[in-house]
Amino acid sequence: MKRLHHLIYQSRVLRALSATELERLRDQSQQANQRAGITGILWYDGQRFLHILEGPGAVVRELFARIRLDCRHADVQVLANGPIAQRQFQCWEMAILRRSGRLLKQGDSCEPTPDALADHTLQLLLQDFQHTVLSAAVRYRP
Ligand SMILES: Cc1cc2nc3c(=O)[nH]c(=O)nc-3n(C[C@H](O)[C@H](O)[C@H](O)COP(=O)(O)O)c2cc1C
Repeated sequence: MKRLHHLIYQSRVLRALSATELERLRDQSQQANQRAGITGILWYDGQRFLHILEGPGAVVRELFARIRLDCRHADVQVLANGPIAQRQFQCWEMAILRRSGRLLKQGDSCEPTPDALADHTLQLLLQDFQHTVLSAAVRYRP
């Protein structure tokens, strides 16, 4: 079996995406990720992305190299990159979680694994992410 990796990055959104644009990104990524054996979740709050990708190491690296160059975002910062024992998001090739709390995913039948959103590391990352966004919002207030 190929070794599983996860890669978590955050980035700055260059232009706020509409619901339709987000849905298109989700649908295109969902199909491509399914073919490639990638799962994960993308957190979006209008200003920043936080993306957790998991799958075979080489595939994750190849996808990230492409995502990094995407002109919809900038200042891409890798927060974690390494081997994992098992997937946390095996149900989702691509789900988008918006700050409003609404989850954009394919169908409704597939819930996250019980551990996925309760996972301590992920909770810390999300808290850290929110903190970063909040302090950036304060800093950039005109
Ligand atoms: C924040 C963000 C996350 C993305 N996530 C994925 C993804 O998980 N899978 C994917 O195939 N494309 C994703 N994309 C789109 C890729 O950057 C790229 O547009 C897409 O893979 C098509 O690449 P290509 O035109 O070189 O074939 C993402 C783009 C952004 C801005």
